[in-house]
Amino acid sequence: MPDLLDLSDKKILITGGAGAIGRVVVDVLSSHGATVVANDVVAAADAHAALPHGENVRYIQADATDAAEVERLYAAMEQTVGLPNVVCCHTGMVGAYSVQDYPLAEFDSLMNLNVRSSFVIAQTAAKRWIAAGTPGLLIFTTSWVQDVPWPEITPYNASKAAMKALMRGFARELAPHNIRANAVAPGIVGVGMAKRQWDTDPSYQARARKAIPLGQMQTPESVAHAFLYLCSPLAAYMTGSVLLVDGGCSLYPMDE
Ligand SMILES: NC(=O)c1ccc[n+]([C@@H]2O[C@H](COP(=O)([O-])OP(=O)(O)OC[C@H]3O[C@@H](n4cnc5c(N)ncnc54)[C@H](O)[C@@H]3O)[C@@H](O)[C@H]2O)c1
Repeated sequence: MPDLLDLSDKKILITGGAGAIGRVVVDVLSSHGATVVANDVVAAADAHAALPHGENVRYIQADATDAAEVERLYAAMEQTVGLPNVVCCHTGMVGAYSVQDYPLAEFDSLMNLNVRSSFVIAQTAAKRWIAAGTPGLLIFTTSWVQDVPWPEITPYNASKAAMKALMRGFARELAPHNIRANAVAPGIVGVGMAKRQWDTDPSYQARARKAIPLGQMQTPESVAHAFLYLCSPLAAYMTGSVLLVDGGCSLYPMDE
C-alpha cells in the first residue's frame, strides 16, 4: 500500500515561511519528506531559530514584494534544490482600523504584500513551469474572511477575496499547462497575526470568542494539515478549490 502522504518527490517553496503559521507548515511538509525552501524577510539567524532543522529545509531571504528579488529567490532555489513543483503564496499582513480611520499608506502596503506579491510569486512560478514543460501546483493562503465582512480589517478581507480570485484565475487559465491552483482558508489561528489582535484588542477577543463555533482558536497544525493534503496525491484532481479549515467561523453570524 503506497503512503499517500509521502512528499519525498516534492520541492516546495513557501513565502512567509518563518512566520507563526509558515514555520509549522514547513515542519509538517518536511517531516513528510518534502524538500522545503522557506522564504521570508527576517535575518537568516532568526529564520534558523524558527525553522525545523534538517537536510531537506533551506532558508532563502528575499522580499516577496520585489520582482527582482523574486527572480533571485527562484534562481537561488533552482541552483540549490531545483525548480519547485509546489509554490505556496503564504506571506501576508493585517491592520486593524475602522474603515473611516484606515490609513491609505497601510492600505497600499497590505495590498502590495497580500495581493501583488502573491501574483508576482505565482506568475514567476508559472513562467518557469511553462518554459520547462513541467506541471506545478500553486497554493494561496486566503482566509475565512475572504467571504465575510469581519469588522475592522476590511482591506484585509478584500485582499483575501482578491487572492481567492487570483487562485481561481490561475487555475482556469493554466489548467492546459497542467498547472493547478488551490487555496487554504484558515479561521482564527492562535498564533501570529490573529493572536496579536486577540491579546491586544479586547473588543476583537470578545467578537472572536463568539465567532468560533468550535469554541477554541485554531492550531497552526490544523492549517499545515490542509497544506499536506493539497500537496499529496490525494488532492491530485483538485484545482480552483478553497479548502476551508476554520472551525465553522464562516458560519458567522450565528444565531445568538
Ligand atoms: N493568524 C491567523 O489567524 C490567520 C488566519 C487566516 C489566514 N492567515 C494567513 O496566514 C498567513 C500567515 O499568517 P501568520 O499569522 O503566520 O503571520 P506572521 O506575521 O506570523 O507571518 C507572516 C510572515 O511573512 C513574512 N513577511 C513579511 N513581509 C514579507 C515579504 N515582503 N517577503 C517575504 N516574507 C515576508 C514575515 O516576516 C512573517 O514571518 C498570512 O497570509 C495570513 O493572512 C492567518
